[in-house]
Amino acid sequence: MHTNNTEQAWYILGTGAIGTLWAAKFLQHSIPCRLLHRSTPEQSGDVISRKLNLIGLDDHQHSYDLVSESIYCNGEINRILVCTKSYQCIAAIEPLIPRLCDAATILILQNGMGQQQELARMLPKQQILLASTTEAAMIKSPLEVKHTGSGISSFGCLDHSTQISPDITAQLKRINMQQEQNIEAVLWSKLSVNCVINPLTAIHNCRNGQLLQNPKLLSLTQQLCTEVEAVTTAMDKPIKAAGLFDKVRIVATATSQNYSSMQQDIQYERNTEIDFINGYLQQHADRLNIPCPLNRQIISQIKQLELSHYP
Ligand code: PAF
Repeated sequence: MHTNNTEQAWYILGTGAIGTLWAAKFLQHSIPCRLLHRSTPEQSGDVISRKLNLIGLDDHQHSYDLVSESIYCNGEINRILVCTKSYQCIAAIEPLIPRLCDAATILILQNGMGQQQELARMLPKQQILLASTTEAAMIKSPLEVKHTGSGISSFGCLDHSTQISPDITAQLKRINMQQEQNIEAVLWSKLSVNCVINPLTAIHNCRNGQLLQNPKLLSLTQQLCTEVEAVTTAMDKPIKAAGLFDKVRIVATATSQNYSSMQQDIQYERNTEIDFINGYLQQHADRLNIPCPLNRQIISQIKQLELSHYP
């Protein structure tokens, strides 16, 4: 028998910067949430009380009590927020499938595309919600997160025909997430910018702003924008306003001193999300017969760097 509290609790999968920031947001607004931690099936009873520390945008420190439980615990899961890296998404959810209620809501907040559709095929009964954010955060140590940039966060249904429960919408509204009728358009817009800034900064081992300052990088940025935009336009996902280069220019200027997530992945010798960013775009380009030679070359350069890293 589950209490109402458990039914309304958000389980969080993925304790990187965004997962930890979202746990802090839920706790700040007294919305019940639990972290899920990896363990062996033998440690299925592991429930640990922990402290989550948030350094806010104003540099003030906040501390919250948080419960973390093993993915192999028994309780049913009704709401889950998935913030893992895109390439970990499917493997991370698999052990939790027996715990998911048929009517569970799965909110996916991560970079890249393709994994959401795969998950929807895997879990046809549950409702898949997609989310996107321009907020920025940085993990200082496990469960210690610094909120480094404010932004806009939105969510919506993968399948436009289904309704989101008003109770879920109300909870997400409390943490400042806006409901979007066409969340796919939001994700495509973010993906397009990621397709340009992330791999170019990773390959050239530079900060975001250098893409605009260095003439050689500026020319690559423009070329890649043209290729990406040819695909999004053919797919009827046009970039609003002045076009992709303008969007990239705005993001790279606003984050000019930052290193992109893909540059950081290569720097710290982790896998990158290239298959779910430029790889996803290339799949559509191939299907539509749109030549994207620079995008293709960039994918293989990133894969090479994943093996060899920076010298
Ligand atoms: O992935 C990132 O680092 C960000 O989304 C960025 C660089 C601002 C846009 O590509």
